[in-house]
Amino acid sequence: MNIGIDQLAFSTTDYYIDMVDLAKARNVDPNKYLIGIGQSKQAVVPPTQDAVTLGASAAAKLLTPTLKKEITTVLVATESGVDNSKAAASYVKHLLDLPDFIRIVEIKQACYGATAALIMAKGLVALNPQEKVLVIGTDIARYGINTPGEVTQGAGAVAMIISTNPRILKLNQTSVSYSKDIMDFWRPLYSENAMVDGHYSTQVFIDFFKNCFGRYQQQTGMQLNDFDAILTHLPFTKMATKGLNGLLGDRDDKVAQRLRTSLKASQVYCREVGNLYTGSLYLGLISYLQNAPHHAGELIGLFSYGSGAEGEFFTGTLQPGFANQINDVQNDLNQRQKLSIKQYETMFNNQLGLQEKDIQFDTSHDKSHFILTGQKNHQRQYQVN
Ligand code: HMG
Repeated sequence: MNIGIDQLAFSTTDYYIDMVDLAKARNVDPNKYLIGIGQSKQAVVPPTQDAVTLGASAAAKLLTPTLKKEITTVLVATESGVDNSKAAASYVKHLLDLPDFIRIVEIKQACYGATAALIMAKGLVALNPQEKVLVIGTDIARYGINTPGEVTQGAGAVAMIISTNPRILKLNQTSVSYSKDIMDFWRPLYSENAMVDGHYSTQVFIDFFKNCFGRYQQQTGMQLNDFDAILTHLPFTKMATKGLNGLLGDRDDKVAQRLRTSLKASQVYCREVGNLYTGSLYLGLISYLQNAPHHAGELIGLFSYGSGAEGEFFTGTLQPGFANQINDVQNDLNQRQKLSIKQYETMFNNQLGLQEKDIQFDTSHDKSHFILTGQKNHQRQYQVN
């Protein structure tokens, strides 16, 4: 049975900052951010948006009245959850006006969460081929103002439909997962910002990638030259380049060049948005599909990484007609408004966060379909426009 990704959509906020502006404000050489980290712009989140509204916005781009009736399960992967008990999927399902006879779950394993959701969705569809599962990876990457991680912040959501006879990517059988209890990146319950051992985290990423790919080769006998592309989680574009270099070593033949060119296409949108945590690998997939020439039947390898830590290497086969099943991301990115560093800092410091009190946000500037209007009696208040 063919099971895989049938539709994909991406959504981010209406605002961004330029990394040259950020570098100047932090007294850093702009080339460190542009070349050393490999980021040009970063999504900025207004107080009226959160993981729920971003996730709902991505999903709304692919929902039709017919599809709404066909979805059997909503899996929302996030590490920017808005409640310790109630699933973000419950809010998202409500905002999307999905029917009540539906399963809703939130999944967490850092940036790996959306891949866990994808694998689970594949299992559900294998058991019940009539199921269509809505998988959402939605996050806000926050490290804090004037921290080393600041340049690797970002925000956004990817939504996908997993079904039989997928029109984008058929998921292949073998996959390799690898996990260890480590402290490379984490966020305690009392903190809005992530804590990170930055250089250690990049080394663990590279090691996990090598371990997963090596095991995959042993199990399948496949080699690098069997792949048209090998895409990875994208906390920032340079990280993916380092990861692929870890597999390629000094190799600079046609295979290495092809894989480097494919990876470059996958980095285009990350460079403009930043880290999406759970959605990053899948925004990379969209970016690859929209920024490189393709042929149906291509073999695409995907390495998912989530701190804490878990990696998984799996593959998919590109399906004909994939291009019509994804929103035009570059067009959406072109509509965004640039903010000054001061405006970004104000937004950053005015989030609902961990506050207990009632709050009513000024929503007049937010033209999004789904808005967080504030908090009342300890309950988040959402509005559909
Ligand atoms: P840093 O210490 O400020 O940067 O933080 P650096 O000093 O290591 O420099 C970065 C690069 O810029 C270096 O290149 C420099 O040489 C270069 P590299 O050696 O790495 O190739 N550089 C320059 N290049 C050109 N011109 C210049 C210049 N100056 C320096 N003038 C760090 C960097 C990534 C550690 C920091 O931003 C951070 O901690 N970020 C957050 C952690 C992170 O993203 N880790 C990625 C792996 S873990 C992961 O992916 C999981 C995650 O997504 C979370 C989850 O799973 O939920 C994070």
